[in-house]
Amino acid sequence: MDEYRTVNLANWNERVDGHMAPDGYRVDELINDPDWVTAVVRHDAAKLGDVSGLTLLHSQCHIGTDTLSWAKLGATVTGLDFAPKAIAASRSIAAQMDVNATFVETELYSAPDHIDSTFDLVYTSVGAICWMPDITKWAEIMAGFVKPGGRFWIRDSHPALMALDDGRDDDQLVVAYPYFHQPTPINFPATESYQGSATIENTDSYSWAHSIADVITALMDAGLTLERFEEYQHLDWQFLSSMTQTEEGTWVLPEEVRDNVPMQFSILASKPA
Ligand SMILES: C[S@@+](CC[C@H](N)C(=O)[O-])C[C@H]1O[C@@H](n2cnc3c(N)ncnc32)[C@H](O)[C@@H]1O
Repeated sequence: MDEYRTVNLANWNERVDGHMAPDGYRVDELINDPDWVTAVVRHDAAKLGDVSGLTLLHSQCHIGTDTLSWAKLGATVTGLDFAPKAIAASRSIAAQMDVNATFVETELYSAPDHIDSTFDLVYTSVGAICWMPDITKWAEIMAGFVKPGGRFWIRDSHPALMALDDGRDDDQLVVAYPYFHQPTPINFPATESYQGSATIENTDSYSWAHSIADVITALMDAGLTLERFEEYQHLDWQFLSSMTQTEEGTWVLPEEVRDNVPMQFSILASKPA
Protein backbone atom coordinates (compact mmCIF):
# COMPACT_ATOMS: atom_id res chain seq x y z
CA MET A 1 0.00 0.00 0.00
CA ASP A 2 1.29 3.50 -0.74
CA GLU A 3 1.81 6.15 1.96
CA TYR A 4 -1.59 7.75 1.24
CA ARG A 5 -3.61 4.57 1.69
CA THR A 6 -1.60 3.75 4.83
CA VAL A 7 -2.69 7.10 6.29
CA ASN A 8 -6.28 6.46 5.14
CA LEU A 9 -6.29 3.05 6.82
CA ALA A 10 -5.39 4.60 10.19
CA ASN A 11 -8.13 7.18 9.71
CA TRP A 12 -10.82 4.61 8.79
CA ASN A 13 -9.83 2.23 11.57
CA GLU A 14 -10.21 5.01 14.08
CA ARG A 15 -13.65 6.04 12.83
CA VAL A 16 -15.11 2.64 13.65
CA ASP A 17 -15.65 3.11 17.42
CA GLY A 18 -17.48 6.39 16.86
CA HIS A 19 -19.67 4.87 14.16
CA MET A 20 -20.52 1.91 16.42
CA ALA A 21 -21.50 4.28 19.28
CA PRO A 22 -25.18 5.05 19.99
CA ASP A 23 -24.94 8.40 18.18
CA GLY A 24 -23.15 6.83 15.20
CA TYR A 25 -24.71 4.41 12.72
CA ARG A 26 -28.00 2.91 13.97
CA VAL A 27 -26.56 -0.50 14.81
CA ASP A 28 -29.13 -1.33 17.54
CA GLU A 29 -32.03 -0.87 15.14
CA LEU A 30 -30.32 -3.00 12.52
CA ILE A 31 -29.91 -5.84 15.03
CA ASN A 32 -33.20 -5.56 16.91
CA ASP A 33 -35.81 -4.38 14.43
CA PRO A 34 -36.40 -7.13 11.85
CA ASP A 35 -37.91 -4.66 9.35
CA TRP A 36 -35.24 -1.94 9.66
CA VAL A 37 -32.67 -1.49 6.89
CA THR A 38 -30.36 1.48 6.34
CA ALA A 39 -31.66 4.47 4.38
CA VAL A 40 -28.90 3.85 1.82
CA VAL A 41 -30.11 0.31 1.13
CA ARG A 42 -33.78 1.35 1.21
CA HIS A 43 -32.96 3.86 -1.55
CA ASP A 44 -30.92 1.48 -3.66
CA ALA A 45 -33.25 -1.50 -3.21
CA ALA A 46 -35.96 0.55 -4.91
CA LYS A 47 -33.64 0.82 -7.93
CA LEU A 48 -32.27 -2.72 -7.92
CA GLY A 49 -35.43 -4.70 -7.15
CA ASP A 50 -35.76 -7.97 -5.27
CA VAL A 51 -32.37 -9.32 -4.18
CA SER A 52 -33.60 -12.43 -2.37
CA GLY A 53 -31.60 -15.47 -3.36
CA LEU A 54 -28.87 -13.37 -4.99
CA THR A 55 -25.20 -13.44 -4.05
CA LEU A 56 -24.02 -9.90 -3.35
CA LEU A 57 -20.50 -8.50 -2.89
CA HIS A 58 -20.40 -5.19 -1.00
CA SER A 59 -17.13 -3.44 -1.74
CA GLN A 60 -15.84 -1.05 0.97
CA CYS A 61 -18.51 -2.27 3.38
CA HIS A 62 -17.21 -0.34 6.41
CA ILE A 63 -19.00 -1.66 9.58
CA GLY A 64 -21.35 -3.73 7.45
CA THR A 65 -24.63 -1.99 8.17
CA ASP A 66 -25.53 -1.71 4.49
CA THR A 67 -24.16 -5.20 3.78
CA LEU A 68 -26.30 -6.69 6.55
CA SER A 69 -29.31 -4.69 5.39
CA TRP A 70 -28.98 -6.43 2.00
CA ALA A 71 -28.78 -9.72 3.90
CA LYS A 72 -32.03 -8.85 5.68
CA LEU A 73 -33.58 -8.37 2.24
CA GLY A 74 -32.60 -11.95 1.39
CA ALA A 75 -29.20 -11.71 -0.33
CA THR A 76 -26.26 -13.92 0.60
CA VAL A 77 -23.69 -11.22 1.29
CA THR A 78 -19.93 -10.82 1.31
CA GLY A 79 -18.44 -7.54 2.51
CA LEU A 80 -14.89 -6.41 1.92
CA ASP A 81 -12.96 -3.58 3.53
CA PHE A 82 -9.31 -2.84 4.35
CA ALA A 83 -9.92 -1.60 7.92
CA PRO A 84 -9.49 -4.49 10.43
CA LYS A 85 -11.67 -2.73 13.00
CA ALA A 86 -14.45 -2.26 10.44
CA ILE A 87 -14.36 -5.96 9.54
CA ALA A 88 -14.32 -6.96 13.23
CA ALA A 89 -17.32 -4.67 13.85
CA SER A 90 -19.16 -6.11 10.83
CA ARG A 91 -18.60 -9.66 12.09
CA SER A 92 -19.72 -8.80 15.62
CA ILE A 93 -22.95 -7.20 14.33
CA ALA A 94 -23.60 -10.15 12.01
CA ALA A 95 -23.12 -12.58 14.92
CA GLN A 96 -26.08 -10.92 16.63
CA MET A 97 -28.32 -11.37 13.59
CA ASP A 98 -29.77 -14.39 11.84
CA VAL A 99 -28.23 -13.73 8.42
CA ASN A 100 -25.96 -15.24 5.82
CA ALA A 101 -22.86 -12.99 5.77
CA THR A 102 -19.10 -13.22 5.25
CA PHE A 103 -16.66 -10.35 5.81
CA VAL A 104 -13.20 -10.21 4.25
CA GLU A 105 -10.39 -7.90 5.33
CA THR A 106 -8.54 -6.84 2.21
CA GLU A 107 -7.21 -3.77 0.48
CA LEU A 108 -9.40 -3.26 -2.57
CA TYR A 109 -6.69 -3.81 -5.17
CA SER A 110 -5.72 -7.10 -3.48
CA ALA A 111 -9.30 -8.34 -3.19
CA PRO A 112 -9.04 -10.92 -6.04
CA ASP A 113 -6.29 -12.65 -3.98
CA HIS A 114 -8.73 -13.07 -1.07
CA ILE A 115 -12.15 -13.57 -2.67
CA ASP A 116 -12.39 -16.46 -5.07
CA SER A 117 -15.99 -16.08 -6.32
CA THR A 118 -18.16 -14.11 -8.65
CA PHE A 119 -21.49 -12.54 -7.64
CA ASP A 120 -24.96 -11.82 -9.00
CA LEU A 121 -24.66 -8.24 -7.76
CA VAL A 122 -21.51 -6.25 -6.99
CA TYR A 123 -22.46 -3.21 -4.94
CA THR A 124 -20.61 -0.13 -3.65
CA SER A 125 -21.92 3.17 -2.36
CA VAL A 126 -21.69 6.51 -0.56
CA GLY A 127 -18.02 7.39 -0.18
CA ALA A 128 -16.24 4.70 -2.16
CA ILE A 129 -14.26 5.78 -5.23
CA CYS A 130 -12.65 8.90 -3.75
CA TRP A 131 -10.36 6.49 -1.82
CA MET A 132 -9.17 4.80 -5.01
CA PRO A 133 -5.97 6.10 -6.64
CA ASP A 134 -6.56 4.20 -9.92
CA ILE A 135 -10.10 4.09 -11.31
CA THR A 136 -9.21 1.82 -14.25
CA LYS A 137 -7.85 -0.89 -11.96
CA TRP A 138 -10.78 -0.39 -9.57
CA ALA A 139 -13.25 -0.96 -12.42
CA GLU A 140 -11.38 -4.08 -13.59
CA ILE A 141 -11.62 -5.53 -10.08
CA MET A 142 -15.31 -4.66 -9.72
CA ALA A 143 -16.10 -6.15 -13.15
CA GLY A 144 -14.05 -9.26 -12.37
CA PHE A 145 -16.33 -10.03 -9.44
CA VAL A 146 -19.54 -9.80 -11.51
CA LYS A 147 -20.91 -13.18 -12.72
CA PRO A 148 -21.75 -13.43 -16.43
CA GLY A 149 -25.33 -12.11 -16.54
CA GLY A 150 -24.83 -10.32 -13.21
CA ARG A 151 -25.02 -6.64 -12.32
CA PHE A 152 -22.80 -3.91 -10.89
CA TRP A 153 -24.13 -0.88 -8.98
CA ILE A 154 -22.44 2.22 -7.63
CA ARG A 155 -24.05 5.26 -6.01
CA ASP A 156 -21.55 7.84 -4.86
CA SER A 157 -20.91 11.53 -4.28
CA HIS A 158 -20.88 13.43 -7.56
CA PRO A 159 -17.39 14.62 -8.56
CA ALA A 160 -18.88 18.03 -9.49
CA LEU A 161 -20.03 18.40 -5.87
CA MET A 162 -16.72 17.25 -4.46
CA ALA A 163 -14.95 20.01 -6.44
CA LEU A 164 -16.79 22.64 -4.36
CA ASP A 165 -15.41 24.52 -1.37
CA ASP A 166 -17.00 22.87 1.70
CA GLY A 167 -15.52 25.37 4.16
CA ARG A 168 -17.96 28.21 3.42
CA ASP A 169 -20.69 29.31 5.79
CA ASP A 170 -22.85 30.91 3.07
CA ASP A 171 -24.80 29.23 0.25
CA GLN A 172 -22.33 30.19 -2.51
CA LEU A 173 -21.22 27.27 -4.68
CA VAL A 174 -17.55 27.94 -5.31
CA VAL A 175 -15.27 25.55 -7.20
CA ALA A 176 -12.12 25.02 -5.14
CA TYR A 177 -10.71 21.66 -6.27
CA PRO A 178 -10.12 19.90 -9.60
CA TYR A 179 -13.07 18.00 -11.09
CA PHE A 180 -10.69 15.90 -13.19
CA HIS A 181 -8.37 13.26 -11.75
CA GLN A 182 -4.95 14.31 -10.45
CA PRO A 183 -2.40 11.61 -9.53
CA THR A 184 -1.54 13.35 -6.25
CA PRO A 185 -4.46 13.19 -3.81
CA ILE A 186 -5.74 16.01 -1.63
CA ASN A 187 -5.61 15.80 2.14
CA PHE A 188 -8.85 16.83 3.88
CA PRO A 189 -7.93 16.76 7.60
CA ALA A 190 -10.88 16.48 9.99
CA THR A 191 -11.21 15.91 13.73
CA GLU A 192 -14.76 14.54 13.40
CA SER A 193 -16.37 11.94 11.18
CA TYR A 194 -19.51 12.52 9.10
CA GLN A 195 -21.55 10.51 11.62
CA GLY A 196 -21.51 10.60 15.42
CA SER A 197 -19.69 12.91 17.82
CA ALA A 198 -16.43 11.00 18.39
CA THR A 199 -13.16 12.90 18.01
CA ILE A 200 -10.50 11.58 15.61
CA GLU A 201 -6.75 11.73 16.24
CA ASN A 202 -5.65 10.31 12.87
CA THR A 203 -7.06 13.39 11.21
CA ASP A 204 -5.48 13.11 7.76
CA SER A 205 -7.24 11.42 4.85
CA TYR A 206 -6.23 11.53 1.19
CA SER A 207 -8.72 11.33 -1.63
CA TRP A 208 -8.69 11.34 -5.41
CA ALA A 209 -11.19 12.89 -7.85
CA HIS A 210 -12.59 10.80 -10.72
CA SER A 211 -14.68 12.44 -13.40
CA ILE A 212 -17.98 10.81 -14.41
CA ALA A 213 -16.53 10.08 -17.87
CA ASP A 214 -13.53 8.31 -16.30
CA VAL A 215 -15.78 6.14 -14.10
CA ILE A 216 -18.17 5.12 -16.90
CA THR A 217 -15.37 4.55 -19.41
CA ALA A 218 -13.39 2.44 -16.93
CA LEU A 219 -16.42 0.22 -16.25
CA MET A 220 -17.20 -0.20 -19.96
CA ASP A 221 -13.53 -0.91 -20.79
CA ALA A 222 -13.62 -3.56 -18.06
CA GLY A 223 -16.34 -5.42 -19.97
CA LEU A 224 -19.54 -4.11 -18.37
CA THR A 225 -22.51 -2.73 -20.30
CA LEU A 226 -24.06 0.54 -19.10
CA GLU A 227 -27.73 -0.04 -18.21
CA ARG A 228 -28.63 3.18 -16.41
CA PHE A 229 -26.95 6.41 -15.25
CA GLU A 230 -28.69 8.79 -12.83
CA GLU A 231 -27.88 12.04 -11.02
CA TYR A 232 -29.51 13.11 -7.77
CA GLN A 233 -30.24 16.29 -5.83
CA HIS A 234 -29.83 14.70 -2.40
CA LEU A 235 -26.94 13.37 -0.32
CA ASP A 236 -26.89 11.00 2.67
CA TRP A 237 -24.67 13.34 4.71
CA GLN A 238 -24.13 17.06 5.09
CA PHE A 239 -21.33 18.26 2.80
CA LEU A 240 -22.02 22.02 2.75
CA SER A 241 -23.18 24.06 5.75
CA SER A 242 -26.03 25.49 3.64
CA MET A 243 -27.56 22.02 3.17
CA THR A 244 -30.68 21.12 5.16
CA GLN A 245 -32.10 17.75 6.14
CA THR A 246 -35.29 16.46 4.52
CA GLU A 247 -38.02 14.51 6.32
CA GLU A 248 -36.50 11.32 4.85
CA GLY A 249 -33.16 12.18 6.51
CA THR A 250 -31.25 13.09 3.32
CA TRP A 251 -29.49 16.44 2.78
CA VAL A 252 -30.30 18.98 0.07
CA LEU A 253 -29.13 22.42 -1.07
CA PRO A 254 -31.31 25.51 -0.55
CA GLU A 255 -34.11 25.46 -3.14
CA GLU A 256 -32.82 28.48 -5.09
CA VAL A 257 -29.52 26.70 -5.93
CA ARG A 258 -30.72 23.08 -5.90
CA ASP A 259 -30.67 22.80 -9.70
CA ASN A 260 -27.13 24.18 -9.93
CA VAL A 261 -25.08 21.10 -9.10
CA PRO A 262 -25.72 17.36 -8.74
CA MET A 263 -25.13 15.77 -5.33
CA GLN A 264 -24.74 12.11 -6.32
CA PHE A 265 -24.69 9.80 -9.31
CA SER A 266 -25.49 6.13 -9.76
CA ILE A 267 -24.48 3.63 -12.40
CA LEU A 268 -26.16 0.31 -13.08
CA ALA A 269 -24.14 -1.91 -15.38
CA SER A 270 -24.34 -5.54 -16.40
CA LYS A 271 -22.00 -8.25 -17.60
CA PRO A 272 -23.07 -10.09 -20.76
CA ALA A 273 -24.22 -13.67 -19.99
C1 LIG B 1 -17.38 6.12 3.50
S1 LIG B 1 -17.04 4.44 3.83
C2 LIG B 1 -18.16 3.76 2.73
C3 LIG B 1 -18.98 2.81 3.47
C4 LIG B 1 -20.47 2.82 3.41
N1 LIG B 1 -21.02 3.72 2.46
C5 LIG B 1 -20.96 3.10 4.81
O1 LIG B 1 -21.20 4.28 5.11
O2 LIG B 1 -21.07 2.18 5.60
C6 LIG B 1 -15.51 4.12 2.99
C7 LIG B 1 -14.94 2.73 3.30
O3 LIG B 1 -13.91 2.46 2.35
C8 LIG B 1 -12.89 1.74 3.00
N2 LIG B 1 -11.67 1.89 2.22
C9 LIG B 1 -11.01 3.04 1.95
N3 LIG B 1 -9.94 2.79 1.18
C10 LIG B 1 -9.93 1.45 0.94
C11 LIG B 1 -9.06 0.58 0.21
N4 LIG B 1 -8.01 1.08 -0.43
N5 LIG B 1 -9.35 -0.74 0.18
C12 LIG B 1 -10.44 -1.23 0.83
N6 LIG B 1 -11.29 -0.47 1.57
C13 LIG B 1 -11.03 0.87 1.60
C14 LIG B 1 -12.82 2.35 4.40
O4 LIG B 1 -12.23 1.49 5.35
C15 LIG B 1 -14.29 2.63 4.68
O5 LIG B 1 -14.86 1.58 5.42
